[in-house]
Amino acid sequence: MKGNGRRIVEVNDLHHTYLRGSPLEVTALKGVTMEVYEGEVVGIIGRTGAGKSTVVQHLNGLIRNREPGKVIIDGQDMSDTSLDITTIRQKVGLIFQRPEEQLFERLVGDDIAFGPKKLGMPREERRERVRWAMEMVGLDFDRFKNRFTFSLSGGEMRKTAIAGVLALRPKVLILDESTTGIDPRGRRDLLSRIKGLNREHGITLICVSPNMEEVASMVDRIYVIDDGRTVMNDTTREIFARPEELRRYGLGVPQVSAVASRLAEKGLAMPRTPLTVAEAEEDIWRILSS
Ligand SMILES: Nc1ncnc2c1ncn2[C@@H]1O[C@H](COP(=O)(O)OP(=O)(O)OP(=O)(O)O)[C@@H](O)[C@H]1O
Ligand SMILES: [Mg+2]
Repeated sequence: MKGNGRRIVEVNDLHHTYLRGSPLEVTALKGVTMEVYEGEVVGIIGRTGAGKSTVVQHLNGLIRNREPGKVIIDGQDMSDTSLDITTIRQKVGLIFQRPEEQLFERLVGDDIAFGPKKLGMPREERRERVRWAMEMVGLDFDRFKNRFTFSLSGGEMRKTAIAGVLALRPKVLILDESTTGIDPRGRRDLLSRIKGLNREHGITLICVSPNMEEVASMVDRIYVIDDGRTVMNDTTREIFARPEELRRYGLGVPQVSAVASRLAEKGLAMPRTPLTVAEAEEDIWRILSS
């Protein structure tokens, strides 16, 4: 069973054209199909310009569809004109690829409190939400709440943007290349906190990332998008066991998975495609000691 078996995101044959009818028209999506179940951690990978960001912007209604294809979020059809988009935005939190575009208040605390305030949440509760969200991303409340957003480092801006989305307690959290620009340790730390949100709070995660190591360690299932279409869809291990196919779409596999497939070509098959160093270590140890 995937997640808890309840489908929360459904995308069916989605098409999207930017600047339709102008000389600059770009057909970004030509048939994307995917589904995500509640409690899952799903990855979206694809070469640059494949359409990943366009897809995820459809999922929280930042882009609405006027072309063929369906997007259904938690049972609600996004093309329904009577749909209250604010309820969708609250359910599906999207962290943009460029977090600085997501911050608009002068102070960090105010920025994170913006969503809850708009929902009319009382002051005290709001403060607790902000404190919780900052704690979740690893920003010290007392040290950062009165900092100017423009004075933050790139990584701190990302964390602030993530906290602002978390403060709304979304059911689905979408990260669009959200760890780019954070140092390796900060990245590991943030990813494990985000993973914790899934484990402890059941938040469904959709991760777009150019880093295959990161994808391998984070997600259970992967959708590969190429030239605006879904071209592969399987468990993380199955996807990374197909390096030639991925290469056709301009993608690679994690280094440890590559080592395993090279060894297999030379006649030393590993019991599974390792996704992390820890898995490879475990398997190699077992082979050597048997
Ligand atoms: N606002 C826009 N106006 C016009 N064209 C756009 C716009 N946003 C994206 N595109 C085009 O749509 C296509 C898909 O872009 P998208 O940003 O979804 O790709 P992506 O897979 O997220 O790429 P990346 O990995 O570089 O972030 C690209 O050809 C891009 O140039
Ligand atoms: Mg993108």
